[in-house]
Amino acid sequence: MADPQLPVRVAAAQALQAVEQGQSLAQSLPLAQARVAPQDRPELQALCYGTCRWYHRLDSELGRRLNKPLRPNDRVVHQLLLVALFQLRHSQQADYAILNETVEACRVLAKPHLAGMVNAVLRAAQREGEPDHGSESALYSHPEWMVEKLRHNWPEHWQAILAANNSQAPMTLRVNARQIDRDNYLKWLRDDGIEAKATGHAPHGIQLARPLPVERLPGFADGAVSVQDEAAQLCTTLLDLAPGQRVLDACAAPGGKTCAMLEQQPGLAEVIAIDQSETRLPRIRENLDRLGLEAILLAADAGATGDWWDGRHFDRILLDVPCSASGVIRRNPDIKLLRREGDIAALARIQLGLLESLWQTLTPGGRLVYATCSVFPQENHRIIQRFLRQQPEAELVALPVQWGLDTGAGRQLLPDPQAQDGFFYAVLVRRHDGAPNAHTNDQGSGL
Ligand SMILES: C[S@@+](CC[C@H](N)C(=O)[O-])C[C@H]1O[C@@H](n2cnc3c(N)ncnc32)[C@H](O)[C@@H]1O
Repeated sequence: MADPQLPVRVAAAQALQAVEQGQSLAQSLPLAQARVAPQDRPELQALCYGTCRWYHRLDSELGRRLNKPLRPNDRVVHQLLLVALFQLRHSQQADYAILNETVEACRVLAKPHLAGMVNAVLRAAQREGEPDHGSESALYSHPEWMVEKLRHNWPEHWQAILAANNSQAPMTLRVNARQIDRDNYLKWLRDDGIEAKATGHAPHGIQLARPLPVERLPGFADGAVSVQDEAAQLCTTLLDLAPGQRVLDACAAPGGKTCAMLEQQPGLAEVIAIDQSETRLPRIRENLDRLGLEAILLAADAGATGDWWDGRHFDRILLDVPCSASGVIRRNPDIKLLRREGDIAALARIQLGLLESLWQTLTPGGRLVYATCSVFPQENHRIIQRFLRQQPEAELVALPVQWGLDTGAGRQLLPDPQAQDGFFYAVLVRRHDGAPNAHTNDQGSGL
């Protein structure tokens, strides 16, 4: 059995080491949480998220402070030092406590021979303060390739995107329109002493002044609200839902958007929610149950239509494709460590492939919303441009909205420290009178 009293910084160092080895924080943090006392769990989370957020800057400083890199066997002490540097630079904790606890943690990790070195490095860091950042990667605390890619893709916005990625995201709610309207829920929050305001663009959104545990939200357990960023909420508003429609949510887990569409249009004939991940699929069921909603759930590769499609066309399709998640880095700072530059082209191939396959299941006259939480054009408007060139039946719908940037083939929202995540949206309709589309699947994406 794991020791329930592991010091919080030791558990943080171990969780971060797992991230360095390729696990997401969503995977590694629950294991670490199980090893610390319950009252330490919020601090453990803050240490892991904060250290990932500032990883590239902290790692650059540490690299310069170490005479030589730690041996692979001692790598966890590298993470321990990053956590301590994060605290020295970004927390209110007293320096002497950070130093003492970190030196002590070396013993807990069975690395007492490194205690002297750890002490010396942290003393120097405390005495000398934060050094010049030296590189753009350290300055912006992002991997070099991401800084370059953002600068290239968004010459006017790249620094704002990088700054937004390093900010802490607000907590945003979606009011369940079947139960209560937004004004009344805002009043309920006010009566409970919770400060909040309506979101600027999403009609059912509420942004809290400060995050808080969902158990403290009035009516949460009974389905009055869900947690969902404003940008994610906007996806379903673009579907133009109406009674009687058959709707496909092709990449649905954990079901935030499946639930949103069912809340917003109670008269839908049928909603089919697919996800490839058998482990994520139950999360959709949990969300539907809490909100008192119904959908048909399928565990399948949505693109392998031969495996699951019965040949009946859909009136509406939401294609919220797997992506780099580069628009939600502020919520998932581990993405900076996990994502590789080569992932983007691989994801683009998957994204175009899903769009090509699912297009066949859309009824003539039907509407498909393509969405990503990415800010890289390769996953966004370039996919749409490419698809429009190869698919004469597809027509791009101009969106009558004020928000976001027009890319020429869809709209891009960039992450806003005061508001929504980064997201991309394109709305396509299938023309009644277009050319046959049977050839499109054979071409391959060539991306
Ligand atoms: C961006 S998330 C979806 C978020 C979801 N729409 C929501 O709002 O809660 C992408 C999802 O696509 C799923 N996925 C990836 N490839 C897939 C495929 N080929 N077929 C179906 N689902 C897939 C992943 O398991 C993941 O749950």
